[in-house]
Order: sequence, then structure tokens, then C-alpha cells
Amino acid sequence: MRNLWRFLAYSRPYKKLLAVALTASLLRMVMSTYMPIYVGSVINYVEDTYKGARQQDDGPAAAGQVVPLDAEDAITNLTATIETADAPEEKAKALNDRGDAYIGLSTPQVEKAVADFTAVIEMADAPPGQKARALSARSAAYDKLAATDSAAAADITDARRKGWNRLTVMTGLFAWLLLLHMIVTIGRVHLPQRVSASVVRDIRYQLYAHVQRLSLGFHTSRPSGTITSRVITDVQTAQQSIELGLIVTLQGGMQIVVIACIMLYMNWLWALICFSVVPLFLITTHLLRRPLRTASRRMLESTEQMSGHVHERFGMIREVQSFGAEGDEQQQVWHHTEQLRSHSVRHSLLNGVLTAAGEGTTYLGLAVVLLFGIYCVSAGKVRIGDFTTFYLFTQRLFMPVQWLTGAYGQLQTATSATERIFEFFDTEPKVQNSPNATALELHGAPVVRLENVYFSYPVDKPQIVLKDLSFSAPPGSRVALVGPSGGGKSTALSLLPRFYDVQSGHILIDDREVRDVTVESLRKAIGIVPQEPVLFSGTIRENILYGRRGASEDEVLQAANAANAHGFIMAQEAGYDTVVGERGVGLSGGQVQRIAIARAFLKDPPILIMDEPTSNLDAISESLILEAIDRLAKGRTTFLVAHRLSVARSADVVLVIDDGQVLEMGSHEELLDLGGIYCDLWRRQVG
Ligand SMILES: Nc1ncnc2c1ncn2[C@@H]1O[C@H](COP(=O)(O)OP(=O)(O)OP(=O)(O)O)[C@@H](O)[C@H]1O
Ligand SMILES: [Mg+2]
Repeated sequence: MRNLWRFLAYSRPYKKLLAVALTASLLRMVMSTYMPIYVGSVINYVEDTYKGARQQDDGPAAAGQVVPLDAEDAITNLTATIETADAPEEKAKALNDRGDAYIGLSTPQVEKAVADFTAVIEMADAPPGQKARALSARSAAYDKLAATDSAAAADITDARRKGWNRLTVMTGLFAWLLLLHMIVTIGRVHLPQRVSASVVRDIRYQLYAHVQRLSLGFHTSRPSGTITSRVITDVQTAQQSIELGLIVTLQGGMQIVVIACIMLYMNWLWALICFSVVPLFLITTHLLRRPLRTASRRMLESTEQMSGHVHERFGMIREVQSFGAEGDEQQQVWHHTEQLRSHSVRHSLLNGVLTAAGEGTTYLGLAVVLLFGIYCVSAGKVRIGDFTTFYLFTQRLFMPVQWLTGAYGQLQTATSATERIFEFFDTEPKVQNSPNATALELHGAPVVRLENVYFSYPVDKPQIVLKDLSFSAPPGSRVALVGPSGGGKSTALSLLPRFYDVQSGHILIDDREVRDVTVESLRKAIGIVPQEPVLFSGTIRENILYGRRGASEDEVLQAANAANAHGFIMAQEAGYDTVVGERGVGLSGGQVQRIAIARAFLKDPPILIMDEPTSNLDAISESLILEAIDRLAKGRTTFLVAHRLSVARSADVVLVIDDGQVLEMGSHEELLDLGGIYCDLWRRQVG
């Protein structure tokens, strides 16, 4: 987890962009929260309108109008009188009174009153006084009836209009929010990716910079393809996983909290019932954490091994083909891919379980809310619109739960990937500047001395390669190192530029310990033509210029001439612009060697190390190179490893090295006079 945060720390320079992205997702969430409220309101409006229409159809009674009890009593009594009265006057009066009583009700029943007044008017034997009363009362009642009708109609229309107006405003708002939502969504999706692309660039760049500073021991102990895999694949995996995992977690988490609060506010009991299914999800994710992380780590490891293997074998495709090893190699690649497959399968299975837990939780939660909701609606405790709002919120609550399951798996992958990335970042270069290191300043060729040097390679079972090795190279001298293969010649020379540090003893350049000068200044002072030189893919000119970037065309030509390379370069189709492949494919071994020599000459260093510079050359080329070295060695201290003693012959000092020790030392003539190993070797070679 710590490494995950370290990885995230790389996004610090993009704080502002991240803040905008976070605001965008917050806005988006707020906007989408409006949706269920809108839908609920629409449903409630529809319900209201429907009910309103029904009430109108059923008349006032259906709308729940209640007749007060005392008025009802009066009406009952008057009705009894009407039915029993014999005298027309009594009946007409009772009818008129009942009509008034109907009108006098708290909710007037004007129609019945009108019927009573009409009955009086139509009575043939009614007294004129009662008739006149009935006529004026009916006219008033008609007025009232008309007024009530239009008022009721106006009321309903008004209510509908108000509801409609509210709905129009809400729909307008909804449309605007939808538009804004779309814009914000683009920001939410795009901005985090923008940040993570920058973070990946920074990490890759820094990881590359760091890894290339690591000691040779680090690089020789693993195939270069495995390093490539971490710089490319692991960083990519970490980025994708963090992007998917963390951003989704953040957004999902925020959404869950906000919606849970809204739900609790709307109906806390209902909300709590809905939350009761969440532990299922929490328990599953907790149980799957470790297996998921292990599975993703193994996947990355398998990818790394496969990448290392494939990279290495394609690098030696000549050997693979010449030894007819294609079948075996295919088998090995099958083994790696099969391993990757089985880890991926396991990973996806665990992911499946996690997703199932997320979905299970979601459906269980929805089912619980639905059941309880239906009960509440049918019991008349909750309106359908409110229930719909709540249900939609429940969906919105569980949507991020599902995202989180995916995100959780991604985060485990990210944790594994970042662990592996920071394993490299945490590897310190073994060869570093000491705290008081100062630049090595050389004026002309220096004295180089090795004093009682002991050295073994940093490998699992180290063997002492150099044992008490001591020699001194005077300024401007040419020192030849000869001796049997595996004696330690290349190793001794690799200690000068501090590719490795000695276990004990001293290496001094002009009396300055190499460990006390800065590595950069030390390496700047030393030119090397390695035993197996390599060219990178690019033009011949670019390859020579690698010796000293920024050198002039003239200097490049001079260096190539001195290395006896100009001739063959000009014979190429594009001359210095001829593109050579990785490892110098397209050139002969001797041509590659001469370009490497030109490169070292161009560097023009005070100390020159040439590990068998003429091993791939014919006798004529060799003598030309030796001539060039004669010329160029002036003013430099030169070390030459030579199996062919003709090269050693012109040296000022010859060192015979075997088993990590200097066995003989002196000029060619002195060693011949000595009659020892060198003399013996010379006789065998010259005959
Ligand atoms: N990178 C390495 N890791 C571990 N051991 C190494 C490494 N390079 C060389 N050795 C061991 O160190 C010893 C000396 O090797 P070195 O390359 O210095 O010999 P050499 O004298 O240059 O031989 P040659 O003439 O064949 O080039 C050998 O026994 C070899 O096995
Ligand atoms: Mg060697």
C-alpha cells in the first residue's frame, strides 16, 4: 500500500488538474442525484392529476364532503314533516326550510335545495308567500350553483396549472442539468486520464534514468528484457489500475456517502434495512484481498520472465537457428505463456467472485427495498413517486458498490505493480560518488596504479578473481596485458572506470583514489574499446559521435581515419549515413570493432583502454590500427589487452596476468630475456 501512495505522489505536480477533475465528478454526482427526485415528482404529479379527475367525476361526496350531524338532523326532521304534512302551507314551508338547510350546510348541497324550491313553486296549492320565497331562494341557489361549479372547475384547473408549471420548471432544470452533466462527464473522464498519462511519463522517465545509473552488477544479473518489462508493462499496469481503481474508488465512495445520507434523510428505517446487505460485500472483498494481490503479482512476474526470455533469445537468434534450437525455445516460451495463462485464469476467477459478490449485494439490496416499498405503498404509508425516488436512489447507491468491486481488484493489481516498480527505485547504485568526491582534473597523461587489489564479482557464490594485484603505468606509457583466458585482464581494467569497486586495495590515477573522485569526471577521462563492442541502431556517424556528442564533422572523419575505418565506411552505399542495426548487424566483426575504436578516439581521453582491439582484424588492418594507436597513444596512458603478442611487442610495459595476479612485468625484451611464461608464449606464437 505504501508504494501505491509513493506512486500517487508523482501526481503532485498536477494537483490543479486533479482538483478540477474531482470538482467535475462531484458536480456530476450532485447533478445525477437530481434525477430520482425529478422522476418521483413526475409520478406524484401524474397521480395527483389522475386523482383530481376522478374526484371531479364522482362529485363532491366522493371528494369526502361530510354533512354536519346537527344539519343532518334538521334535514331529517324537515323531511319527515314534508312526508307527513297534510296542509299545503305546512308542506311548502318545510320544503323551503329544507332547501335553506341544504344551502346552509358547511358544504352546501345546492342541487337538493333547488329541487326543494322547485317543488314548492310547482305546488298548485302552495300559499303565494311561500312560492315567492321559493322563487327568490331558487334564483339565489341557481346563482350559487353556477358560482360553485365554475369555482370548483377553476380550482382544479388552477391546481393542475400549478402542478404543470412546477413540472415545466423541473423539466427545464432537468434538461439543463443533463447538458451540463454531459460536459462535466467529459471532464471527469478526460482529466484524470490526462493526469495519469503525465504521471506515467514522469515515472517511466525517472525509472529509466534511475535504472541506467545502477551498477553493472545489477544489469548483468538479469536479462535486459525483464528490466524493459518493468519500465514498460508494470508502469502501464500500475497506471491503468490506479486510474480505474483509485478514481473509481474516490468517486464511488463519494457517491455512496452522499446517497446514503439522502436515503437516511428520506426514510432512515428503510435506508438501514437497505444497508443491511453491505457486510456481504465487505467480507468477500476482505477475504479476496491477499489472493488477488498474489495472483496479480504472479501475472506480472510471468510477464517479466517471458519478456526477458523472448528478448534474450531474439538477441541470439543466430545461435538459436544455427543450433536448430527453435523447437526447444518454442517449448520454453510455451512454458512461460502457459504460466502466465494459469495465473491470469486464477486472477480472473477471483475477480469473478468479487464481481459476483458486488452484484449479489446489489440485487439483494434492491430486492429488500422493493419488497418493503411495495408493502409501504399498498398500506398507503408512502406515495408511489416517493417510493420510486427511493428505489432509484438505492440503485444509485449500489451502482458504485459494483464499481468498487472492480476497482478493488484493480487496486490489488496496482499494489503489486507499484511494489515491483519501487523495488527498482529502492535499489541504490553500488558505485556512487563519495560524500567528499571532487572532479578528477587531468593535465595530460596520468600515472595509473593498482595497489594490492582484491576483487570478486557480486554474484551468489563469489570467487576471488583478482588477488593482490599491483602494477603501475607511468604517464603516457603503453601497457599491454597478456595471459591466459579467464586470468582477470578485462576484470582488472573494468575497475579503472569503477564499473565495480574493489573489495580491498587501491586504484590511483595521478595519486588520486578513484573512489574519491566523481564518477562522471572519472569516466570522462577514460576511453574504452570493449572486448565485444556493440553499435546501436542508427547511422555510422551517430555511432561514432557517441564518443563525443557535438564533435565536428572533421573530427569524426579524423577519428574514422585513425581507426582505419574511413575506407570501408565510404564504400557503404550511404557512407557515414549508412544505418546499422542493433548490435551492428550489416557490418563485419572487424568493421564494428573499427567503428568502436573511432568512437574511443573521438572521445580523446587521457586514459585509453582497449580490450583486444584487433582480435577481429586481418594482419594488414591490425598493423594499420597499431600504427594509429602509436600515433594516438601519444599523450595518453594506454592499456591494451592482447592475445596476439605482436600487439604487446610495441608496449612499454607488458604485464602477464594469470589467476588474478601479475606473474611477470617488464618490456618485451626484458620478458624474453627472463625466459618465463611470456617467453614461452612468444616462442609458441612466433615459432
Ligand atoms: N560478470 C561476471 N560475473 C561473475 N564472474 C565473472 C564476470 N565476468 C568475469 N567473471 C569471472 O572472472 C574471471 C576473470 O574474467 P575476465 O573476463 O577478467 O578474464 P580475461 O582475462 O579478460 O579473459 P579473456 O582473455 O578470455 O578475455 C573469470 O573466471 C570469469 O569467470
Ligand atoms: Mg577479457
